[in-house]
Parts: sequence; C-alpha cells; structure tokens
Amino acid sequence: MSDPNRVYIFDTTLRDGEQSPGASMNPQEKLEIAKQLALLKVDVIEAGFPVSSKGDFEAVHTIAQEVHGPAICALARAIEKDIKVAADALEGASKKRLHTFIATSAIHMEHKLKMTPDQVLKKAGEMVEYAKSLVDEIEFSPEDAGRSEKSFLYEIIELAISKGATSINIPDTVGYTTPLEFGQLIKDIKNNVPNIDQAIISVHCHNDLGLATANSLAAIMNGARQVECTINGIGERAGNASLEEIAMILKTRHDLGLNTNINTKQLIRTSKLVSNISGIFVQANKAIVGANAFAHESGIHQDGMLKNQSTYEIMNPEDVGILATQIPLGPRSGKHALKSRLAQLGFDNLSEEMLADLYTGFSKLADQKKRVDDRDLYALASNQSLENEISVTFELVHVQVTCGSGNLPTASVILRDQRDKTNILKGAELGTGPVDAICKCIRKLTKADCTLIEFTVKSVTEGIDSLGEVFIRIRDDNSKGVYSGHAAKTDIVIASAQAYLNAINRFFERKEGLKLSPQSTEAGI
Ligand code: KIV
Ligand code: ZN
Repeated sequence: MSDPNRVYIFDTTLRDGEQSPGASMNPQEKLEIAKQLALLKVDVIEAGFPVSSKGDFEAVHTIAQEVHGPAICALARAIEKDIKVAADALEGASKKRLHTFIATSAIHMEHKLKMTPDQVLKKAGEMVEYAKSLVDEIEFSPEDAGRSEKSFLYEIIELAISKGATSINIPDTVGYTTPLEFGQLIKDIKNNVPNIDQAIISVHCHNDLGLATANSLAAIMNGARQVECTINGIGERAGNASLEEIAMILKTRHDLGLNTNINTKQLIRTSKLVSNISGIFVQANKAIVGANAFAHESGIHQDGMLKNQSTYEIMNPEDVGILATQIPLGPRSGKHALKSRLAQLGFDNLSEEMLADLYTGFSKLADQKKRVDDRDLYALASNQSLENEISVTFELVHVQVTCGSGNLPTASVILRDQRDKTNILKGAELGTGPVDAICKCIRKLTKADCTLIEFTVKSVTEGIDSLGEVFIRIRDDNSKGVYSGHAAKTDIVIASAQAYLNAINRFFERKEGLKLSPQSTEAGI
C-alpha cells in the first residue's frame, strides 16, 4: 500500500519554468537539467509541451529515452492533435504520463475558449478518454481552477476520473487565491467529488501575489498529495511554487507528518544549474538557495550561532548541499581533496576525464586566488559539465584586448576550427567596448549569422580576485533559434569570449546536425 503521508513532487521547470520570460532552453540544456532532476529524485518531470515546437518535441522525446527514475510527462491541450503528438514524444519512456488541460473558469471559457460550459465538459471527457487510449497515466487540469465555479469543477473532475484520469491537478493559474481559500477548495473537492479516491489530487500554484508556496502547503494540509513546482520558483510571470521551499518545509517541519523523496543535498547544485542554463539569477535572499539564506550578519546572531547553531538556524545547511566545513582548498590541495569536496557538494558522478579537466581548472584558479571556496567549486564544476555537453566546432586559442580612455577598444582573436585542425583563424575588430570587440571578431571569424541578445556578468564570490560568471544568449538570424553560452573565469574578458564561443558552438552543433534543435518561437500556451 502506498504511504498516505508521501507528497509527490512534480517538477515543471522544463515546461512552466521555461515559460519564464527569457528562459527558453534548447533540448540539450533541457536534457542536462532533466538528468539533474533525476539525481534530485523528483517523482515526475514535466519535460515540455511537444506540440508547441519541434525543439520541445525533441526535448521531451530525448528525455523520455535517456532519463530514468522519474515519470516523464508531456503537456497537451484537450485537443486530439496535441494529445497524439505528446504521446508520440513520450515513446520509449520507462514511466510516462500525459497531462491534458482545459480552462474551466467563466472568464477563460467565455473570452479565451469561446465555449459554453457544456462544450468544455464534453471536450474534457472525450479528450481524457482519447489520451487514456494512448498512455496509462493521465493527469487532467481544469485550468484557472482557482477562479472556477466549484460545482462545475466537481462535475468536470468526476467526469475526467471516470474516463481514466489518475491525477487531478488543481491550478491556481493566475495566483489569485489565498491559502485559506485554496486549502478549502481542496477540502471541498475531496468531499464533493464521489470518485476522488481513484485519483491523486495535485496542485499547481502561481506566485503572482507571492503565495504560491503557502497555497501549495495549505493544499497539502487539506489532502493534496502531489505538488507541481519549479527549481528556483521560475515560471510564467512571477513564477511557480518553488520546489526547494516545498521540499525543505516538509523536511524541516517533520512534525507535519508528511514526506517527499527529494534528495535535498542536491538542491543547491540543481538551483545553480537551472540558474546558469536559464540565465535567471537567484536573488540573494531567496529562501533555501539564495546566497544569504544561511548567512548570519548581525553580531547578536553570530554570537548566538557560536554558542548553539539552533539559536538562529532552523535547517542544517548540509541538508541542502552546503558544506559545514568551510576550509577553502588552495594551491597545495591535491586531486583527491578536490574529488572528495566535489562529491560532498553533490558532484559525485564525475568521470575520471571530467575530474582531470576540473583539476586543471582548479589548479589555475588556486594559483590566482589562493583560497578556492565551495562557491568557486560550484561555478567551475557547473561550467565544466555544461562545456562537456557542447561539441566544439571552434576552439579559443588566443584572445587579447586593448581598451581604456583615449583608446579604441580592439580585440584580436585566434580560433582553431576543429573540423580541420590545420585551419587557424585569426582576426582583429574594433568595438564599443572590449566585449563588443571580441564578439564582433568571433562572429566574423566563424561566419555565424547570429545576434547577441543578452549579456550578463556577475561575480561568484566577494573580492577583486573573484571568478566572474558570464552568461550570453544569441539568436540565429535565420531560424530565430536561441542559443546560450556560459563561462566562469577570473578574467571576465576571457570569460566573455569563452561564453560567446560556447553559444556559437551550440549554434554550429545544430547547423551541422550534430545535436538537437533549439526551442523555436512557434506557438506556446
Ligand atoms: O498554470 C496553469 O494553469 C498551467 C496548466 C497548464 C496546468 O500551467
Ligand atoms: Zn502554470
């Protein structure tokens, strides 16, 4: 018998999270995140909305075939074509789920769908039945449930279950409800839908009023047993309920008597990966994964902490992947020390080759910085694993810039074309600044038809010798596909060159058919 106190975690970072403005990810990046979500031990990965674009279809399909452990879920509107495409994308998954939805609030039915409630009801019944003929596990969502009439909700949920839905997801699509209301809604559904015991109740809360986590918790307290959430709370508009908050609430407040299967020690690593790939940085005071989440500033607090940690700390930092021993590694630290610290940080699945590359990067950094702390290691290791995902068409051999007041910013760059290693490309360009000059030069040498659409730089640690992390996005001028590049170095000019070249290599990877296509700009939801 399944544990009645178990709360299932349905991660929608790759679907609703990707709907965050500017967060679109290419299939290769989605695969990288999906592998990490499997290490985090989420129960379900909503990998995408296959009918929305070729890229999304490929991403779901690849994840279905390559990621095992969690169930892989694909989203579909309650439309036959969507459902068929979603089922096709899931082909090969060891555990698959199809998630279909239709709006049930008066506002959505009248203005968006232009359908009557009877038409919506009929459509929902038919489409759940059709989906069930293709996939066994079916999730049904009455979109905008938070603003739907309760009697209509009961009716449509009962019908969906009778047609084979195994999960009923209640979305607060616009983040409008309050915890008391949302908890009551779940309780009412439990008490008024006769066949509700044949399905698991799930919730999906948006954060428009900052209540997504509180509403999800209220729902769990009233009988929901699946929470849909995203890493770092990213998602449409103000985002979704944050996975790390839900997981740590249930772990820290074990007196609530509920549990998840999440390996919380992987939370920081997952948060950093999603932030690096999506380009959406985590605010310093973000609960659980923010840089300040476990920092104690005031003298009184520090004094209390020294006397007893429980005075001001309700969670053990080690439980989320922050190491208690903060002895930084340095130039004299060996490969073994690096390996064991990385394993403690959650990077316990590195190949010998990756470890050797990382050790080279670490040694260089340790020579420059002398003290390499966990934040540096996270940046180095995330950087390395992202680079390993790209096939390198052009290698950066040399970059040099001159700039300053009175000087024209000029970059000279040398690249090696890996398709023909004797082909060494050399060039120099002027720019409005050093980064602009580098990007222009690399673009000219590689002949990539693309435009830089985003450039962000931030420091990993405090101090002038900090690693600088650069995140770049480029858009293919023809296909409009978006590619991202990321690099971390103590010299932000070199990091910029490498990040730009990583994005360009992704562009060529696709062009030459080596890997999957980027997210296209075709219809979304
Ligand atoms: O917010 C929402 O209603 C959704 C549905 C597709 C579940 O994302
Ligand atoms: Zn949503």
